[in-house]
Amino acid sequence: MNLQFKNTEIFYSTKGIGNPIVFLHGFLESSEIWEPYVADLSQNRQVICIDLPGHGLSGIIASVHSMELMADVVQEVLRELKIPLVTMVGHSMGGYVILAFCEKYPDMIHSLVLMNSTPEEDSPERKQNRDRSINLVQRNKTAFVNMAINNLLTSENNLKFRREIDALKNRAATFSSGGIIAALEGMKIRTSKIEKLKSFSGNKLMISGEKDLILNHKHLISLAFKCKSNIITLPDGHLSYLENIPEVHKILHFVD
Ligand code: MLT
Repeated sequence: MNLQFKNTEIFYSTKGIGNPIVFLHGFLESSEIWEPYVADLSQNRQVICIDLPGHGLSGIIASVHSMELMADVVQEVLRELKIPLVTMVGHSMGGYVILAFCEKYPDMIHSLVLMNSTPEEDSPERKQNRDRSINLVQRNKTAFVNMAINNLLTSENNLKFRREIDALKNRAATFSSGGIIAALEGMKIRTSKIEKLKSFSGNKLMISGEKDLILNHKHLISLAFKCKSNIITLPDGHLSYLENIPEVHKILHFVD
């Protein structure tokens, strides 16, 4: 399904009836990553998956897609569907968007799951890496997409999930450079949401991969403690929704 937000096409899907749950994908991904979960979960609840701007089938709104702007897109989808209160699951950048949503629309969210994500802002070093990435996207988008996606998993799991990783790369190669850069700019300027997560009084759960090459697992444990969040450790990397499907299935049945 589509809606217009600031004259831009936003794609989302909705399936099932009942207690709504919203899924937000990460950087260079699309709502298709949630496919293994939709059929099952939608048997007894409404499952909404959104393509964030510049990703999947959604257009580009601005030259910078801040996490707040992406949160506004999510709110617009919920307004269209007349849903006042949700549970949200976000992978990595999708988690950053959840925390921005939480800040802007605190009455609309009662449970959240941050999968391979963090409430912290970018370190100075990470901000520099964003600039390098932007430069590479401008020069050679395909090289950037391949490199960024290869870096998500251990070499062992890159081989094990080669088909899925190739599909991810092929899909991301269809996203325009402007959308990829807008997300990198948006992530770069995001602010810390540690206090927000700490004060959030609904159910909160972090999921962390022990071998995550993007977000250090031990550090995420200390952040969960600081933010009074539950945390579940899974044995693999940054793509828990792909690398640990049975475990994630179980978790998602108990989120609220
Ligand atoms: C993601 O998977 O969404 C990205 O790794 C997030 C990031 O680059 O911070």
